[in-house]
Amino acid sequence: MEPLLLPDELHLRKFVSPEIVFGVGARWLLGRYVQNLGARRVLVVTDPGIVEAGWAKQALESLGEADVHYIVFDGVTPNPKTDEVMNGAEIYKREHCDVIAAVGGGSAIDCAKGIGIVGTNKEHISEFEGVDQVNTAIPPLVCIPTTAGSSADVSQFAIIMDRVRRVKMAIVSKAVVPDVALIDPVTLTTMSSYLTACTGLDALTHAIEAFVSNASSPITDLHALEAIKLIPEFLPASIENPDDIVIRGKMMLASMEAGLAFSNAILGAVHAMAHSLGGLLDLAHGECNAILLEPVIDFNYGAVPERYRLIAQAMGINTDKMKSEQIKTSLLAKIRDLRQAVGVVRGLKGIGVKPDDIPELTSRALEDACMFTNPVTPTADQVEAIYHAAL
Ligand SMILES: [Fe+2]
Repeated sequence: MEPLLLPDELHLRKFVSPEIVFGVGARWLLGRYVQNLGARRVLVVTDPGIVEAGWAKQALESLGEADVHYIVFDGVTPNPKTDEVMNGAEIYKREHCDVIAAVGGGSAIDCAKGIGIVGTNKEHISEFEGVDQVNTAIPPLVCIPTTAGSSADVSQFAIIMDRVRRVKMAIVSKAVVPDVALIDPVTLTTMSSYLTACTGLDALTHAIEAFVSNASSPITDLHALEAIKLIPEFLPASIENPDDIVIRGKMMLASMEAGLAFSNAILGAVHAMAHSLGGLLDLAHGECNAILLEPVIDFNYGAVPERYRLIAQAMGINTDKMKSEQIKTSLLAKIRDLRQAVGVVRGLKGIGVKPDDIPELTSRALEDACMFTNPVTPTADQVEAIYHAAL
């Protein structure tokens, strides 16, 4: 007989993840993995920055060594757009591809997921917005991430920007979980300090939002807390020592763990509000999150103080003799100090947001899928207040 009142850990939850190969040299396994998947022709999705950094070339070498045919699509921009997905899907079809490999950050990987959706479902990408809207499995997808932030290589999210509506569509589906993630910290060594900082703060936001999400579970908690522990120590260190593979490896691990947590627990108000900023004004995702994280915690704190206490402890704050309000103050100060240490100090005004934009940003944020798992549902006035606090 099932009791009426179940403890949290007995609420039904599922956890999905790709096959993960983590470690130095993982990127060279691409050829072998697509061969195992039976590939005849691989569409390699990447972007011009990754081509310039040399990671795309290494991926092609690996495919060449395995005698696998390929074609490259590098027409991806930051905040990947619906028309880029449709262009890639056209090439996928025209060239008779049967496997997709993504090499890059969240933009290239999300675009690859979009191409996969269109490749098998044969409809425009904007038809798949929302949760569980993808009916047919996508082609086999192998990812080599080159940032420690988005974790699109392990997640069931694809964020695609609809240029016409200027909305960042969230596509959330088990169908877009990649088959294989080849996670190699060596790829992080070509990131600039600022990209390292913004992507790392994005990963921290993933972990914190997943941990306080109302869809969290014991499995996502485990991963979220580990990421929250690692990032405050190793993000500043990876900026100071960009070529140190051990330190880069810690950040890659933290990003992966944050990704496994948020892919399954979903996110919250920070991401809902950041998606709105990215869609309306085409702003950088990681920086938007970094700016919104403190005011959102300030707003959410009272709903789940015990969860934030555990976050504060994981970030190295000794909460033993602290009252709830002190823990909140210390946690906000810790995040502010971390932002300062890694040089992400601008507010929303500094990245081009005007007070007049806020009503429109607010109505879009309230409709974003990530808002539904925030521990407390804000009103429009409260979202506006958070945007104002972040200006
Ligand atoms: Fe994110």
